[in-house]
Amino acid sequence: MNIVDLIIKKRDGNELTNDEIKFFIDSAVNKSIPDYQISAMLMAIFLKGMSEEETAAITKEMVYSGDVLDLSSIPGIKVDKHSTGGIGDTTTLVLAPLVAACGLPVVKMSGRGLGFTGGTLDKMESIGLNIDIPMEKALEYVKKSGLVLMGQTANLAPADKILYALRDVTGTVESIPLIAASIMSKKIAAGTDAIVLDVKCGSGAFMQDFESAKALAKEMVAIGKNIGRKVVALITNMDEPLGLHIGNSLEAEEAIEILKGNIKGRLFDVSIELAANMLVLGEKAENLEQARKILIEKIENGEGYKKFLELVAQQSENFDGTIKISRAPVEYSVKAEKSGYIYSMVASQIGRASIETGAGRMTKDDEIDYTAGIIMKVRLGDYVNAGDEIAQIFSSSNDKCERAAKILSAAIEIKSERPQLKNLILDIIN
Ligand code: URA
Ligand code: CA
Repeated sequence: MNIVDLIIKKRDGNELTNDEIKFFIDSAVNKSIPDYQISAMLMAIFLKGMSEEETAAITKEMVYSGDVLDLSSIPGIKVDKHSTGGIGDTTTLVLAPLVAACGLPVVKMSGRGLGFTGGTLDKMESIGLNIDIPMEKALEYVKKSGLVLMGQTANLAPADKILYALRDVTGTVESIPLIAASIMSKKIAAGTDAIVLDVKCGSGAFMQDFESAKALAKEMVAIGKNIGRKVVALITNMDEPLGLHIGNSLEAEEAIEILKGNIKGRLFDVSIELAANMLVLGEKAENLEQARKILIEKIENGEGYKKFLELVAQQSENFDGTIKISRAPVEYSVKAEKSGYIYSMVASQIGRASIETGAGRMTKDDEIDYTAGIIMKVRLGDYVNAGDEIAQIFSSSNDKCERAAKILSAAIEIKSERPQLKNLILDIIN
């Protein structure tokens, strides 16, 4: 087999066989073909697409390019959850302890912030949790407490690391089959039996319109079917931040308040929907309605929060029973410039504003200020009077606050007209 022939075959819009896809991925991983040929193939795939069979085949080869975790020593069905990334999207910290409190074991590998979106690992570290956990230790934890939240182990889907780095710099990121294969290869290699996906859609998401979000969701569900994993994908709205808190320890704070039963809202709603789907897939509830009821009970009776404290104790040194949440010292109030309805938000720019406070990275080696971020005071559709507070910014300096405030104000449109609000859960694909 010859890589040039395969590039030409895909360039001309033909379907690659499983063996040809295997050859491409093997050659990329063992470095027997140069980056420019990998990149040319990626561009051909970007332009010509992939059939369902091709997408399943490339995913499978990416899975087996590295370790596939063996979770068989943990009894019962293991269910994972993945979000395509959003703003104020702290569902993992809410749902993992809740689901574990219902007796469904959770072994979850998370990522760091990417672009304008936040990452669970950074949020965990902001409250002192250790995320660097060897697999043996992780299994020990989950057998004892029922959950472990951790960073990706080193040799998980190495083919994805190679392809992703090249896609990032060759204009080939936004390919639905390549995104689907990238996400699903890591989830499948992580070894769970079933996966609940949260595909974000809107101004703060990778997929801005419903049609592409739905296409991505369908592709990932199809991969699951092809590879023999149960997958359910929720398409959820990301036209505004999901929670009101944006920034690492601020988001942990909001997750804790939800677990304690003190607040509800969009973050609560999406967390419950995702968790309910996990319980149904994990056969801990017969249907979604029953699952929601069980989950809400776990908040009301304190067992969800108790499980969260157990997670903190498990993954931090010398935990004394109190979670240390701090807010950055400089506080700045963003005011509405005029009266009217909060008509639209460019949610990705709100993510950008939070990076400006220090809550995210500009370059991959930047250090995060865990205490920095934004607390939104308004939702889409709210009515404000000129001068009302629309957000509070926390940072280490007034300068950073002012820069963030400028981006934030520009991202929020106030109009005399009331906006048409979309549903929070836009669709469910299974
Ligand atoms: N997240 C991933 O893991 N891969 C992609 O390609 C896009 C988002
Ligand atoms: Ca076909």
